[in-house]
Amino acid sequence: MQDNHCFPENFLWGAATSAYQIEGSPLADGAGPSIWHRFSRMPGRIHDDDTGDMACDHYRRFEDDVRLMKELGLQAYRFSIAWGRVLPEGRGRVNPAGLDFYQRLIDALLEQGIQPFVTLYHWDLPAALDDRGGWLNRDCAAWFADYAQILFRALDDRVQYWATLNEPWVSVDAGYLHGVHAPGHASLAETPLAAHNLLRAHATAVQAYRAEGRHRIGLVVNLEPKYPISLAPEDRAATVRAHAYMNRWYLDPVFFGTYPKVLSELFGADWPNFMQADLDHIRQPVDFLGVNYYTRSVVRDDPQALLVRASRVRQDHNLHTAVDWEVHPQGLVDTLQWVKRRYGDLPLFLTENGAAFEDPEVIGGRVEDPLRLTYLREHLKAAYTAIASGVNLQGYFVWSLLDNLEWCHGYSKRFGIVHVDYATQRRIPKSSGQFYARVIRSRGEALWEEEG
Ligand code: FCB
Repeated sequence: MQDNHCFPENFLWGAATSAYQIEGSPLADGAGPSIWHRFSRMPGRIHDDDTGDMACDHYRRFEDDVRLMKELGLQAYRFSIAWGRVLPEGRGRVNPAGLDFYQRLIDALLEQGIQPFVTLYHWDLPAALDDRGGWLNRDCAAWFADYAQILFRALDDRVQYWATLNEPWVSVDAGYLHGVHAPGHASLAETPLAAHNLLRAHATAVQAYRAEGRHRIGLVVNLEPKYPISLAPEDRAATVRAHAYMNRWYLDPVFFGTYPKVLSELFGADWPNFMQADLDHIRQPVDFLGVNYYTRSVVRDDPQALLVRASRVRQDHNLHTAVDWEVHPQGLVDTLQWVKRRYGDLPLFLTENGAAFEDPEVIGGRVEDPLRLTYLREHLKAAYTAIASGVNLQGYFVWSLLDNLEWCHGYSKRFGIVHVDYATQRRIPKSSGQFYARVIRSRGEALWEEEG
């Protein structure tokens, strides 16, 4: 496999999106509002007070979007299901029209030979459940598993890849500690509770899947390798804390049934005495792990920094993206190898990787985005290096298929390999998208083509 730089034959080439970021029509056909629908209506929470009301209008244009995926040669499409379309109140009554939207999307994908890779939860908790405490309520795990079971029964005949949660670390860190994402809380005491209930929800859904499902289910986490700025013991200790907080918090319990010890030290009195039975339950075998990788962080000790007492030292000499993430492809190799060393040789998918840059104007129907193209090239080469070193990486999903609503940044940050003109909803594949299509067609060989 290595000689001509081809990726493995069955390697899955895809692109990723999420419901709230692209669909629009949030309340159409009887759907219930989500916490993001609510959050986006609170003045000042999202850049320019943008909302997901229109987004990429994918809810109405999904057939065109699937055709676009086909044109790009995608073999898989990772998307999320909006819980509130299927269960407007989050539990109880099913809304057949909402479920039907995803049935039609999946059928359209399969018709084009594109594998659906379904995320059950990409941050859009039904608002009605938040009214009952949301992720702070222990019952949320059962609500999630009931919702998941409805989807397994309806869709597992056509869906081979299921992911329970997308990036629980972000749900908790941004949503419950810093308050910059929905539901917008900033509470030390709530943070470990929300995390624990998300993990219980993941495990309960995996258990439900074992009873119903015939394919594969896993979890998607965001990992960001941490490197100390110096060899000073304080900086190294800060790096250990940052690494435990961001990278181990949601994996140690899933694979070992334990939380990193340092978390209880960081939270002090706010760290609950979790029941061992919960941790045993959280440790459900998964069929794969989805890793989202964007950047690394170089860390220094910082006694003033909230909770973790560590902060990032910006590496000014290196390229940064429009959201100020350092471009560091080697971190992807390090991360995948670390996962294998620590958690075992399980199938991995790179479920998100990509970059926001200030794209130039559309000229003559073209969008040239060389920085994103190079980002993809370098990270795909890194993925190749990881595979060559023995990591069982089975697929890659670029974030994102389309420019879309980048959460609190609104529409100001563009991650798409396809440009979206939000006024007309016209889609134009960028040069990075065309490049990615060539990479897929050549099973990776085009990564090593002459540049320029
Ligand atoms: C990830 C999210 C995804 C997108 C990218 C840029 O944290 O999962 O929805 O916003 O970042």
